[in-house]
Amino acid sequence: MQTDRKAQELWSHRSVFILALMGSSVGLGNIWKFPYLTSEQGGGTFVLLYLACVLLVGVPMMKAEVLLGRHTRSNPVQAMRLLSQEAGVSERWRILGWLAVLTGVLIFSFYAVVAAWIFYYVFSLSAGLLADAGWEQSNNFFSRMLADPDTLLTSHTLFMLVVLLILGAGVRRGLDRAIRYLMPLMLLLVLILLVYAYQSGYFWQAYQQLFQFRPERIDGAMVLAALGHAFFTLSLGTGAVMTYGAYLSRKESIGQTVACVGVLDTLLALLIGMVIFPVLLAAQMPSTSGPELLFISLPVAFGQLHAGQVLCVMFFLLVGVAAVTSAISLMEPFTALLEQQWGLRRVVAAVISVATAWCMSLAVLFSFGHLAGVTWYGMNLFELLNFVTTYFLLPLVSLAIMVFTGWILSRRITQSELTQSVPGYYLWRLCLRYLVPLAIGLIFVTNLYNVSF
Ligand code: PHE
Repeated sequence: MQTDRKAQELWSHRSVFILALMGSSVGLGNIWKFPYLTSEQGGGTFVLLYLACVLLVGVPMMKAEVLLGRHTRSNPVQAMRLLSQEAGVSERWRILGWLAVLTGVLIFSFYAVVAAWIFYYVFSLSAGLLADAGWEQSNNFFSRMLADPDTLLTSHTLFMLVVLLILGAGVRRGLDRAIRYLMPLMLLLVLILLVYAYQSGYFWQAYQQLFQFRPERIDGAMVLAALGHAFFTLSLGTGAVMTYGAYLSRKESIGQTVACVGVLDTLLALLIGMVIFPVLLAAQMPSTSGPELLFISLPVAFGQLHAGQVLCVMFFLLVGVAAVTSAISLMEPFTALLEQQWGLRRVVAAVISVATAWCMSLAVLFSFGHLAGVTWYGMNLFELLNFVTTYFLLPLVSLAIMVFTGWILSRRITQSELTQSVPGYYLWRLCLRYLVPLAIGLIFVTNLYNVSF
């Protein structure tokens, strides 16, 4: 059973690791939530506050996850077991690893459903199905698609196959190679769309809406929104970052690499905002967020602009790529666990992990159709999974992992992995021991409070 610490495949280059973490972090959150949050909350003020949250809370957490992964060269379960042995504490800490893997699989099972919608839209938009649609028509199209999951089965299956293909080929031939193609494609699509948005004539108006400083709007709710978002978008708490860290060469500096990811993730979210807002403004559509923005408003808005249909397909392609690169990071911990813990071949491990997630995801897909009647506290399975993972599992698992790293793991281990300057190291440790638990605790208590009232 013991195959841990065997020669592990590594990323071919540090830049691929940066791109892989970016791929994981840039996902639906950046597209349908961040731009809206920014324009609603306080424009440039929110962006600065958010950056502070990323740098003071998100980046230290990310560094911690990467160092745990790299130190053990293992999946989250074995990593936590090896680390607890090294720290001389109960091996029960490995339960945290299991919880992280489970959280990843649960998030994947509803993420895959949204990805199926996105793939379906790429096909439908390419076929001109939504050409010149008004809001009403667009709304009906989306509702009809939701109520008829049978038609979504093809795109759902296609998405699963793409994920399986990448995971099954292993770290070097699968993840590494896919990232090297998909991330440049994603950046290229963002650039093309940006140029298009620039020509729409509403670029500067959108810029103002997004970035104008509105310090009077700063309040507790805004800080919490920034914190909560930083947390989800950086893919923390699912073991994704830890597992990717396990494939990082010891020669690389964790500190610089991770800070780079935090800043680039924010930058990309802002650039995507600078695509969405000019398009909405040019079509005189109100800014919205979530599925409504993506699946109802944007197709209408693009449709009203010159060459909008083609660009809309490109936009959905961009979202599809972002979903794939996040999804593989959600499933990699489980796949690596099956491979390392039970000595399975990579392909077999990938088939088992994706097949398990597929079954769960099918139930989620049908929670809008045949299983729509099955609800808990008024939530269908999709909403329930989203709720339980975002509000409870992610913060709790992260909190426990951070407490373990900051308070239980010896300084010798963390310092040997984080080869940064002494003040830099102590600043990181200070953030991890005090600021991070405080921030996560705050989010968690507020979530609890919001749920009970
Ligand atoms: N960061 C991704 C997003 O913004 C979601 C995600 C969460 C991916 C956790 C991996 C792990 O959409």
